[in-house]
Amino acid sequence: MKDIFAKCEAFLARSKTVLAGDQALATQLFTSVSPEENAGPWIEVNGRKMLQFSTNDYLGLASNPEVRKVGLDLAERFGLCSPMGSRVLTGTTEHHLRLERKVAEFKRTEAALTFATGSNAMMGALACVAHQRDTLIMDQYAHASLVCGAKISGAKTLFFRHNDMQDLESILRKETDARSIAIVVDGIYSMQGDMAPLDELVELKKKYNVRLFVDDAHGNGVCGDGGRGTAAHYGVEDEIDLHMGTFSKAVGTIGGFVAGPKVVLDFIRYNAPTFLFTKAMPISIVGATEKAIDLLMDADDRRAKVWENTKRLQDGVRELGFSIGETQSPITPIKAKGSDALYIADELRRDYGIWAVPVIYPGVHLGTSIVRVIPTANHTEADIDHLLDALGAIHRKMALAPQASV
Ligand SMILES: Cc1ncc(COP(=O)(O)O)c(C=O)c1O
Repeated sequence: MKDIFAKCEAFLARSKTVLAGDQALATQLFTSVSPEENAGPWIEVNGRKMLQFSTNDYLGLASNPEVRKVGLDLAERFGLCSPMGSRVLTGTTEHHLRLERKVAEFKRTEAALTFATGSNAMMGALACVAHQRDTLIMDQYAHASLVCGAKISGAKTLFFRHNDMQDLESILRKETDARSIAIVVDGIYSMQGDMAPLDELVELKKKYNVRLFVDDAHGNGVCGDGGRGTAAHYGVEDEIDLHMGTFSKAVGTIGGFVAGPKVVLDFIRYNAPTFLFTKAMPISIVGATEKAIDLLMDADDRRAKVWENTKRLQDGVRELGFSIGETQSPITPIKAKGSDALYIADELRRDYGIWAVPVIYPGVHLGTSIVRVIPTANHTEADIDHLLDALGAIHRKMALAPQASV
């Protein structure tokens, strides 16, 4: 019998995801230590000022002084991590209930439930709402937390080609024996940056009388009126059966939520393993999150700035000759062949003082890589132009190389 740990040694000795020659650089980049104060845009790394383009702090709320003050005051009164218990034991305080009312107001739903992380929310909701004889039909790029939730649920799980409504419909047409069906998508895809066509998805869900669940981790705060997300952008909020989200991106804190009809949320409260069997969000974070959502709903100026920066960056990157796919959001995936994103990210850091992250398999398809660049409301035009100048120089150098790969 093989030792169950054998695969660990094999992985470290000979990763299948990175070519042998690229392994040292991959290890260096993926284990590099971030500075403590890393919300950006300017950060200090080993005494060097660097410009950061790699967080999802879209509105700059992670470093907002009002949000910080609320969190710090609550931590001082109640301790860093109270309450000390699961939500169904000693972990539900008035603060949690108030945050859940705030989330329901934000998503314009009857009720909402918060979780310690977004992944817990997605996993827990799917794990308990779907059962063995049900079918979940997911976009092939649905977030890993949704895929994990589907696995835990034991439901039959099918995948349709990314954003391909014909492929989805062909699956729906064939799935006649399922007891119940839900379509599961991200609002905005975290590596590609494109939106799910929620208007068409709503038509299909109605035609086949199935449910539609949306993980809008990257849409909340960024698009739609009051930052209410991708469903608000499409004008279909009422047609989404479960809205899911995280506080770890535009909200700038940590935690996650599921929002929808009260009867479903009450069911999830008593059945989601990631809600029942884990500690509640600390009051300090709950209070900071409530404050951040208030600011976020009122942050049209910050949203306008993110979109302005996004346009400047994406027009510029395309003009330089890089491909960034079909993105419709601030997520800007600069595409590269093989593991070349590792070298672009390394050069950005070393030669230009720009902190951007490479993504390789399994974040993207094997044999491809991206440098994932994200402008926020806190970046200035000069910051964007500095990045474009650096990318321009790298692109020119790569074009001269014998095997150009952009
Ligand atoms: C689409 C999507 N869903 C869920 C999550 C998980 O959120 P959290 O970081 O709160 O666990 C993420 C974050 O990586 C995400 O991008």
